[in-house]
Order: sequence, then C-alpha cells, then structure tokens
Amino acid sequence: MTRLTATAALLAMLSGCDHGFRDPSREFGPEVSDDAPMHRVEIHHPTTLGVADTPVTDAAGRPIGVACETCHGPTPDLSWAASPERPESFHEAVDLRHGTLNCNTCHDSEDRTQLHLADGALLDIEDAMTLCAQCHGVQFRDYRRGSHGGMNGYWDLRRGPRDRNHCVDCHAPHTPAYEPVLPVHPPRDRYLETTEAHPAEGGH
Ligand code: HEC
Ligand code: HEC
Ligand code: HEC
Ligand code: HEC
Repeated sequence: MTRLTATAALLAMLSGCDHGFRDPSREFGPEVSDDAPMHRVEIHHPTTLGVADTPVTDAAGRPIGVACETCHGPTPDLSWAASPERPESFHEAVDLRHGTLNCNTCHDSEDRTQLHLADGALLDIEDAMTLCAQCHGVQFRDYRRGSHGGMNGYWDLRRGPRDRNHCVDCHAPHTPAYEPVLPVHPPRDRYLETTEAHPAEGGH
C-alpha cells in the first residue's frame, strides 16, 4: 500500500466517525440559553413517613401501615393509646440505636402525631428532614450542596429536573448507622487466573 492510499483510507475512516455518536441516546442535547428557566428539584417523599407498620400484610406481601392518628388521636382523651386499657409497651419492636436519644427527643410527648425541635417547636412528621438538620448541620449543609445523599436526573437544571433522596430513604431514623460491610475478595481476573502464577479458581 502506498503512503497516499494509506492516508486516504485513514481519512475515510475518520470521516466515518464524524457523524456523531453510534448510540444516538448519548448525543449532546440541543444548546440551551443561559437564561432558560430552571427545572424543579424534587425530594422523594417516603410513603412510610408517619405510618406505623403492622404484622398484617396486604396481597402483595407489604406490611399494612396504620397512621399515628388512629391511636394517638387528635383528641387524646378519646384515643385508644390514652385509654387505661392500652398496652404500656406498644412499640416494643422499635429498635432505637441512635446516640443516647430517647423517644421524646424527637417525638412530641403530648402529641404523638408530631415531632419537635429542641426549642419545643412542633414539626409535622412530613418535615422530618428539618429534625435531622437540627443535629446534623454538617451533613445537611453537604446535602444541600449535593455532596451527600445522592441525586438522579440533571446537573444542569436548565436541561431537566433533578430528584433527590430523603435522609430517611437511607438512614432509618431509629437505627441510622450503616452496618459495616464485610470485605470480599477483589473481582476475579479471568486472564491472569488461567496462568501458572495464579492457580485457577478453587485454589483459594
Ligand atoms: C395501633 C395503635 C397505635 C398506632 C397506630 C401508633 N401508636 Fe404509638 N403508641 C401506642 C400505644 C398503645 C402506646 C403506649 C402508651 C403510651 O405511651 O401512650 C404508644 C406509645 C408511643 C410512644 C411512646 C413510647 C414510649 O416508650 O415512651 C411514641 C413515641 C409513639 N407511640 C409514637 C407513635 C408514632 C410516631 C406513630 C405513627 C407513626 C404511632 N405511635 C402509631 C399505640 C399506637
Ligand atoms: C432521632 C429522632 C427519633 C427518635 C429518637 C425516635 N424516633 Fe420514632 N421516628 C422518627 C422519625 C423521623 C419517624 C418518621 C420516619 C418514618 O416513619 O419512616 C419516626 C417514626 C416512628 C414510628 C413509625 C415507623 C415505625 O418504625 O413503625 C414509630 C412507631 C416511632 N417512630 C416510635 C418511636 C419510639 C417508640 C421511639 C423511642 C423508643 C422513637 N420513635 C424514637 C424519629 C425518631
Ligand atoms: C437531637 C439530636 C439528633 C437528631 C434530631 C438526629 N440525630 Fe442523628 N445522631 C445524633 C447523635 C447524638 C448521634 C450519635 C453520634 C455518635 O455516636 O458519634 C447521631 C448519629 C447519627 C448517624 C451516624 C450513625 C453512626 O453511628 O454512624 C446518622 C447517620 C444519623 N444520626 C442520622 C440522623 C437522621 C437521618 C436524623 C433525622 C431522622 C437524625 N440523625 C436526627 C443526634 C441526633
Ligand atoms: C443516598 C443515601 C443517603 C442519603 C439520602 C443521606 N445519607 Fe447520610 N450517609 C450516607 C452514607 C453512605 C454515609 C456513610 C456511612 C459510613 O461511612 O459508614 C452517611 C453518613 C451520614 C452521617 C454520619 C457521619 C458521616 O458523615 O459519616 C450522618 C450524621 C448522616 N449521614 C446524616 C444524613 C442526613 C441528615 C441526611 C439528609 C439531609 C442524609 N444523611 C442523607 C447515605 C445517605
């Protein structure tokens, strides 16, 4: 092959690549102007918020939840949880391992359908993130900046919306610690393991 035909072949190859990506879904989106309107950022709302699980399950095997109001009334005098026949230790299954906090650090002692902040201000269970932020300011700051808690969707909000997780999507409020992960073997290298130096699988 002469040098000329080799160059021509190379040029032909390069010009073939010139028509954008093979996978059209990975192509760059159209230009957006700097003053384009911003899309929404939505924080996921866990459906478990303010619902006590029961051992009863639905047809799909999910635990059926009961709202706090069912027993903790809006009118405490009429509520079952305030009646003399109530079982004293009803929520025994709640496994609390969160510093040295107790139930009343977070749940209001008068109105069980609400949380409360350190200054006594009541908070809907829906607003649990404000409660977490009170004591974990550093993580909440990181969360707002996007370096804690993850996200899905677009970095550039001019192009599309973004979804964020709620603190309690990842940290159970009663047992927030991540369990330690058991270290496992590194991934197996198929190529190295067939050689003499690295005996094939089953060797370890
Ligand atoms: C099926 C009825 C029932 C439901 C539903 C229920 N509770 Fe209770 N709860 C009770 C009873 C009974 C007690 C024990 C009596 C008491 O301390 O008032 C109790 C006690 C508590 C206590 C005090 C525990 C302690 O040891 O001091 C907290 C906190 C509490 N409930 C929170 C909640 C929250 C939050 C919800 C909703 C997510 C809820 N409960 C839903 C029946 C219920
Ligand atoms: C760090 C704050 C905090 C403490 C301490 C705490 N809770 Fe909660 N609890 C929450 C938040 C926030 C929710 C709502 C989140 C959810 O339902 O997923 C919740 C949900 C619940 C629920 C409904 C969900 C479930 O697990 O059944 C019950 C019942 C409950 N708490 C009872 C208690 C009891 C009883 C104690 C004490 C033993 C306690 N909590 C201690 C913050 C707390
Ligand atoms: C009243 C203060 C207070 C509130 C409210 C609170 N925490 Fe905590 N949290 C603590 C304390 C104290 C510790 C224990 C720190 C330690 O042991 O080093 C802790 C520990 C943690 C840890 C680390 C656990 C570990 O051992 O790795 C996580 C995660 C956490 N909290 C998440 C949350 C979330 C999510 C909420 C909201 C539902 C919340 N916290 C609400 C005080 C609070
Ligand atoms: C996508 C899941 C996710 C979400 C959402 C999330 N966290 Fe975390 N968080 C983690 C992981 C993973 C760790 C590190 C655990 C470890 O190192 O053992 C962590 C650690 C923490 C710790 C322990 C201290 C530390 O930095 O290691 C606190 C406190 C905490 N998170 C609070 C929060 C609060 C408050 C929110 C909501 C504003 C939140 N987290 C949202 C996953 C999450």
